Amino acid sequence: MDKKVIVTGCSGFIGFHLTSALLDKGYEVIGIDSLNDAYDVNLKKFRLSKLEENKDLNFLNLNLSNLDSYEELSKLSDGTSAVYHMAARAGVRQSFINPENYVDDNTVATTNIAKFTKSNNIEKLVLASTSSVYGDSGELLMSENKDEKIQPPSVYASTKLSGEILTKIMMEDTSTNLLIPRFFTVYGPYGRPDMSILRFIHWIIEEKEVLVLGDGEQMRSFTYIDDVVEALLLMMDYKESNTFNIGSNTTVSLNDVIKTIEKYSGKKAKIKNEERAYKDPDVVRPNLENISNELNWKPSTNIETGIEKTVSWYSENKEFLNDIVYI
Ligand SMILES: NC(=O)c1ccc[n+]([C@@H]2O[C@H](COP(=O)([O-])OP(=O)(O)OC[C@H]3O[C@@H](n4cnc5c(N)ncnc54)[C@H](O)[C@@H]3O)[C@@H](O)[C@H]2O)c1
Repeated sequence: MDKKVIVTGCSGFIGFHLTSALLDKGYEVIGIDSLNDAYDVNLKKFRLSKLEENKDLNFLNLNLSNLDSYEELSKLSDGTSAVYHMAARAGVRQSFINPENYVDDNTVATTNIAKFTKSNNIEKLVLASTSSVYGDSGELLMSENKDEKIQPPSVYASTKLSGEILTKIMMEDTSTNLLIPRFFTVYGPYGRPDMSILRFIHWIIEEKEVLVLGDGEQMRSFTYIDDVVEALLLMMDYKESNTFNIGSNTTVSLNDVIKTIEKYSGKKAKIKNEERAYKDPDVVRPNLENISNELNWKPSTNIETGIEKTVSWYSENKEFLNDIVYI
């Protein structure tokens, strides 16, 4: 088995968990992150400090939108069998404020990573994408094979879709196995302080006002991080190119999430509803047939268990997590 892989965005939420799992499995990981300030960098450093306890992590602080970064990476990357490109500028809200950062960190950095993978003849590229490319599901399930109808509704989603399209085109004449997981609202320990679940847990446990954008009836396919990592690891042995939805088949409203956090924290939420500044989807619901058929994967953590575990993690790290900036 080839044991050396590159994980970009290793100090980010998903990249951190993926890197931990790969290190646990005995892989040597070249982890890359620019430690940008999209949200509190102390949380990224906190995750990185956990990873650096393992000597098989080789961490490089590089900005992948800058082509000079690849000289340093090339010196170490001989023998790499896969690139997991998890680095991105994520989040819909901020993308309307600083669109240029999204073009740099998503469109440009992804094109550079595709070029690097191609010129080094690396066998596999796993490119993280998002359910945001689909917009609103309405009555329908979101399916990977209806791409011609996709109209990304935000700057974030547009830059992620541009990364998908550019990479597909660049890989056409290569033998690289290209896999594109589209994640649906991922949550869990070490999660992002700009996403609803960690914000809600922080505000409820610390007895602060809980800001809910809209009426809280938006339905999301919340997906627990361990299930996501399991799917990403299954991709290691999958030899075709494909795009996969990675989500939960049970959708839940933000108001239900808040009730579940109340249950496991033993505290009551002080909710303040505010108008949504942009139109995010009302319903997001994945079709999981493709990943179920091809990788025999299905999510196994329900929202109750996932929130219970995330609340426990917050409580165990409360002192540190209370000082993080939630945006
Ligand atoms: N968390 C979710 O619910 C979710 C949902 C859909 C898709 N995604 C996608 O999954 C991937 C991981 O998301 P996440 O939640 O872990 O986000 P994250 O922001 O926690 O992690 C991304 C990491 O990439 C790093 N990064 C950004 N630009 C970089 C650059 N130019 N060079 C090097 N490093 C850079 C950031 O510093 C950050 O640590 C992203 O591609 C995101 O678009 C996430």
